[in-house]
Amino acid sequence: MFLFLNKMRAVCPKAARAMGYLDEATGIEGRFRRVGAAWKEHIEHCHKIIQQGMANCSGHRTVAVLGAGLIHDVPLKELSERFQKVLLVDICHPVASRKQYSHYPNVEEYVADVTESIELLYKLPNPEQPFHCPIPHLLRDREDLDLTISINLFSQLPCMPMNFLKKWGYGRPWMEDFAHKVMQRHVDWLRLLPGIKVLITDIERQMLDQTNRIIERLDLTYGVSLPLADTEWIWKLAPIPEVSREYHYFRKVVGYSNLP
Ligand SMILES: C[S@@+](CC[C@H](N)C(=O)[O-])C[C@H]1O[C@@H](n2cnc3c(N)ncnc32)[C@H](O)[C@@H]1O
Repeated sequence: MFLFLNKMRAVCPKAARAMGYLDEATGIEGRFRRVGAAWKEHIEHCHKIIQQGMANCSGHRTVAVLGAGLIHDVPLKELSERFQKVLLVDICHPVASRKQYSHYPNVEEYVADVTESIELLYKLPNPEQPFHCPIPHLLRDREDLDLTISINLFSQLPCMPMNFLKKWGYGRPWMEDFAHKVMQRHVDWLRLLPGIKVLITDIERQMLDQTNRIIERLDLTYGVSLPLADTEWIWKLAPIPEVSREYHYFRKVVGYSNLP
């Protein structure tokens, strides 16, 4: 009943709900409760890169946090103290995230699809033709934007749409073409925004055995080439037994304090 009420109160547009974004947020919330202690180093790395990005800023008017989600990985207090306005941008804002920022008067929830594609995909575009994936217009006219932080979002962009489209019989080549485009457009779009751009994203899924030997690697970039990162690290996303009793599932993450 409590979960049901929380779901009703979450801010998540119809198309995004249908694609499972709210369920995904609930899943992340549960995972953080179970294995969040293992994320400590990852969160520290995220904060450090964001702090470097803040140090690169010449003004401190507005900061936009893209993929803010449950705000586990963002130094919200610091951002709120340093900037006049903090925009938490996400396609889905669960109740739990609201509880975290409600006492910061200059922090605002901003419901937006950073790909500007979700509504188009929800209408099921022609699977016989490649998808026209736009470069988003979002925030491009915000002259007061001094910092944008894309936080653990880039690799997630195609995931929920692909799960949704799979059910409607879209083939692998169509979806991989879409995944490449949506991720490439994200980087292209970030580069068009004013101010400093911080990008933090996982780029590889790693499966490790109980002795921490890597058994399998899966590239998550769909062929999008990223410049040399400032830093890279391992996110212990799902240590044994979170997903499996035999294998850890970790992520290789890269961070840019000012995306070139
Ligand atoms: C892995 S989570 C990022 C972690 C998050 N910062 C946290 O601390 O929980 C990815 C976030 O990106 C959001 N997201 C995914 N696709 C999006 C889109 N097209 N537009 C806006 N937000 C999106 C998800 O709703 C989710 O909150």
